[in-house]
Amino acid sequence: MSEQGEESQDVVRRERFSGGPAREFLSSLAADERIFAADIAVDRAHVVMLAEQGIIDEADAADILDALAEVEDAGHGALPDGEDVHAAIETAVIERVGARGGKMHTARSRNDEVATCIRYRLREDVLDVAETVLEAREVLAEVAAANGETVMPGFTHLQPAQPTTVAHYLLSYESALSRDTERLLDAYERVNRSPLGAAAFAGTPFEVDRERVADLLGFESVIENSMDAASTRDFLVETTAAAAALATTLSGLAEDLVVFSNKGYVELSDDYSSTSSIMPQKKNPDTMELVRAAAGDTSAGLNALLTVLKGLPRAYNRDLQRAHPHAFEAVDAVAEATEVAAGAVATADWKEDVLAEAAGEGFSTATGVADLLAMAGLPFRTAHEMVAQAAEEGSDYEALEAAAQEVLGESLSEHVDREAVEAALDPEQSVASRDSLGGPAPDAVEAALERAVAGVESDIGALETKREGLATAAGRLDTEVSSYD
Ligand code: ARG
Repeated sequence: MSEQGEESQDVVRRERFSGGPAREFLSSLAADERIFAADIAVDRAHVVMLAEQGIIDEADAADILDALAEVEDAGHGALPDGEDVHAAIETAVIERVGARGGKMHTARSRNDEVATCIRYRLREDVLDVAETVLEAREVLAEVAAANGETVMPGFTHLQPAQPTTVAHYLLSYESALSRDTERLLDAYERVNRSPLGAAAFAGTPFEVDRERVADLLGFESVIENSMDAASTRDFLVETTAAAAALATTLSGLAEDLVVFSNKGYVELSDDYSSTSSIMPQKKNPDTMELVRAAAGDTSAGLNALLTVLKGLPRAYNRDLQRAHPHAFEAVDAVAEATEVAAGAVATADWKEDVLAEAAGEGFSTATGVADLLAMAGLPFRTAHEMVAQAAEEGSDYEALEAAAQEVLGESLSEHVDREAVEAALDPEQSVASRDSLGGPAPDAVEAALERAVAGVESDIGALETKREGLATAAGRLDTEVSSYD
């Protein structure tokens, strides 16, 4: 760290634990850059509360708050050496204020401090991820709106199954992403609780005001049991699981786009493609392959996190230092993947002619014909058998008529008009007929689109409310801090 830092002594380690081969191994200072700003905020709120409660006097509080402002301006890179950011900031405060600076650590421990810092930072990250997901949902809805009647093949087992539309396909991901948004915002509720005041795990004899400090930091509530507060990391599990679930959703979208590009259904823009260093003709969907891979990173992170946490005894154990980086990595990876996936969808060119041509391939309208016969009164199973029989020979009216003779022992026209059968065989009309709730018929999709847009708007509102809550709290803390000038 800084030159100044090399001389200064870590306030926690002092001489007895001043070095040795494990010094680097023990230190989280470099990784703690992520929670540097959080630690400054947490220190400020704690000092304000200590002064309000008369635990430290106002003059000491004022000097400590001044020192914190300097430390903040100098930045994480200027911190003295230390076992972690908490120790290093305290050392830096003491360097500026003298021994009185050590009053900052009254009535707390690094255990409740670090848990608070992680939550303080992670809640912003969760909102950032949710925001990128909302942008992706907007993109999906926009492209869907432009493709309500763009017929395309739908697949099961990667085989042509039934025709659908590009809008219906894209809205299927909007719908999945709306649940990913829900999971993130739900996890947020439990991230946004304050462990501060738990101290090492056993509370403190000082008359701290845990509610006040939580409020100054914009936390919704306090995690009461001090042993639970200092040691639990379940909020990391939830957040990382939500990130991994989101990445899994995106991996399916990415895989589809790889397959669809391969089939010529869609062309990704050059910005979202890559080429080959040797094969001049190549245009590859590399970005989507990397989005697909993000699911691997995040699920590995979730597994790593759960494995670190599994079987930890109460209360604090240093293993915890290796827990939260997995959550931070997961939210970073998934935010980036979401943004790229959205960009690729926004700029992709759907090849309507190729899609229309492909929509009827593989007798994809077979189910529609069976449905038609069932609507005319034939048991669906019989209709299914008859159409399956026809499919062996072909996918036109003649094949169906031959199968009817064979299976039903009578002409198809005994049950349905030829015209209706021809309509059922047409991919576009087949799609239009499936107008059940959530189905691909343009009318059904239009209604779904309206609900999707309303859902996005309401989630944007929820996100903004949370952001405003945090901003208001930050402003309040600033005001309190400046009152000590
Ligand atoms: N840097 C540590 C962490 O991230 C906090 C230090 C608490 N250390 C301790 N020995 N109790 O978990």
